[in-house]
Amino acid sequence: MAGKIKRQTIDLIFENSRIEEVIGDFVHLKKAGSNFKGLSPFVNEKTPSFFVSPAKQIFKCFSTGKGGNVVSFLMEQEHLTYPEALRYLAKKYNIEIEEDEADSPEEKIALGERQNLEVVTKFAQEFFSSTLLNTDEGKAIGLSYFKERGFSDETIETFQLGYSPDTSHALLDAAKAGQYSVEYLEKAGLIKRSGDRQFDFFRGRVIFPIHNLTGKPIAFGARTLKSDKNVAKYFNSPESELYHKSKVLYGIYQARASIVKQDNCFLVEGYTDVISLYQSGIHNAVASSGTSLTTDQVKLIKRYTSNITILYDGDPAGIKASFRGIDIILEAGLNVKVVLFPEGMDPDSYARSVNQDTLKSFLEKEQVDFIVFKSQVLQEEAGNDPVKRTALVRSILESIVLVQDSILRSFYIRECSRLLDVEENNLLIELNKIARKKQRAIPGQEYSPDPYPKVQEPIRKKVNKLSSTNLEVDILMKLLLYGNQRILIDLLNEKDEKSEVESSVAEYILLEIDNDLFDFRHDGYKALLDEFRAIEIDNTPALQHHFLNHSNETIRSLTTDILISQYELSSGWKEKHHILTDMEDSSADKLKSTVERALFAYKLRNIELLIQEKQNELKSVYEVDKQDEKVQAIINEINNLNKAKSHFSNILTRIILH
Ligand code: CTP
Ligand code: MN
Repeated sequence: MAGKIKRQTIDLIFENSRIEEVIGDFVHLKKAGSNFKGLSPFVNEKTPSFFVSPAKQIFKCFSTGKGGNVVSFLMEQEHLTYPEALRYLAKKYNIEIEEDEADSPEEKIALGERQNLEVVTKFAQEFFSSTLLNTDEGKAIGLSYFKERGFSDETIETFQLGYSPDTSHALLDAAKAGQYSVEYLEKAGLIKRSGDRQFDFFRGRVIFPIHNLTGKPIAFGARTLKSDKNVAKYFNSPESELYHKSKVLYGIYQARASIVKQDNCFLVEGYTDVISLYQSGIHNAVASSGTSLTTDQVKLIKRYTSNITILYDGDPAGIKASFRGIDIILEAGLNVKVVLFPEGMDPDSYARSVNQDTLKSFLEKEQVDFIVFKSQVLQEEAGNDPVKRTALVRSILESIVLVQDSILRSFYIRECSRLLDVEENNLLIELNKIARKKQRAIPGQEYSPDPYPKVQEPIRKKVNKLSSTNLEVDILMKLLLYGNQRILIDLLNEKDEKSEVESSVAEYILLEIDNDLFDFRHDGYKALLDEFRAIEIDNTPALQHHFLNHSNETIRSLTTDILISQYELSSGWKEKHHILTDMEDSSADKLKSTVERALFAYKLRNIELLIQEKQNELKSVYEVDKQDEKVQAIINEINNLNKAKSHFSNILTRIILH
């Protein structure tokens, strides 16, 4: 076990790493001004949207929105952990890694615990293997069972299958003879105790060792050979310092090279499914082993591929499990396909019933995208019942909403529209409703916190500062979502008296924006805003439809992007700009402050930008000819702007605290 990398080493690594060199190993970069440009490694694209800034030592992918420093790139691209990324860089730049030896006492104990468990688990695995292959009982019972199931010697060796004798003390005796710790055998669940009596827990069962990524056995599944329904089919090792069930996949060690090679991972339910597929030439299969799939397990697969094909039984339980699996996989940002087996078949029995070529072509032919799969299954259930069909559409959208890549998401919406014969626009509107509801239901959960915020924070701040266009998006979002709704606003008459009038949200927003000197900075968003100016809001009740069906392609696609992206804003960004989409509430009393929040955040940002521009102007005027008059005029302007700034920021604070 490696210790912690010393602070000085980390500094040295950052000082010596050149982001353009590191990324250049993965992406073909071309010079573009002071930056480099290339095709994003995170998506399939034809036009480069991936930028690297040598000056700032950051990268930014405009297709996926991903960005960060050299370490975050490696973590993203190579699925490395933070220390792994540092070690990668140290190797590349020939930097010697110094480590802090002194782990905390708790870490030392945990480490000791793990090592001790490793030792007894390895011992038990060897004992079970040798019992299977070298004893009369093992051969007569265990080995003949495996042979009956069609497992070859090679397969048995690859998976280190074993047998536990049908006595209460075979493993116990061997452990004592070899001076292995009975205490740790107990902790590993291999030996149980009742009162003073100790006994082998897995006795009389065939053994499936579970390996970690480096091929060490860390746990066991033990299958009974009895068909008695009252006996549990499998006994499994308990959770321990060594074995965290939810983070482990059965077969990952044997499968990982093939997963990379095939760029795909088959996901099955049981030990025997993995083994039978392996024996039939499908080496890239792993099992979640009885537990329902977890995010950690998907992340493990993600180290090797971003494509998963679920192979579950075609029975109702299998289908239900596959639905859950689909959503977990999508949420982790991977692609998911599904293969259903013929009634009564699972991967194991099917693989044994056909030859290798038939199996391969079956998997190839039968795999369908999750959208197709879900609609087929649900359509069968729903028939022509409109209520059930609505539920079906919603269930599919619940999955699509989890897809993180916005291009993919658009693709799925189109696919869903085609398959279910529902208009794309209606799907989009429904999708956004679901997205909003999700955010309200689990506030803060939507955006999983960055595991290494400290390293990336300063960069993220810099990038955010530039994104004044996001505030324009936020305003357009309010226009599209609530433009038609009515609110009460204060107007000043000629005598400077306040009077309350009713207005549509859209009219109010346009009034406020047109009152100011600045217009939208982004050309496309300005076009959208102009379109709001051009139409009669009150005669356009279906605002979103109007924009989604617009004859102008730019308006159509930007509207789609805005509606689709409204739940993608990072939480940090929202906080900074006082945008609280998750609290968004279109009920009459909250609507006004929701809209005002967006408006004043936008105004405040514009003033800040204006101040920045003026300060730059000041610098250049001062340096060139030191003309006092001009300098003084600019300083006055800046002072006025600063007053306006604090005015707006007070209003904003009031709105937020309200
Ligand atoms: N499982 C378990 N405990 C059980 C039943 C099942 O842990 N009592 C897990 C095992 O990981 C098993 C998987 O769920 O591999 C799938 O269950 P099942 O299909 O019943 O078992 P198989 O391994 O396929 O066994 P067989 O083909 O011999 O019936
Ligand atoms: Mn089975």
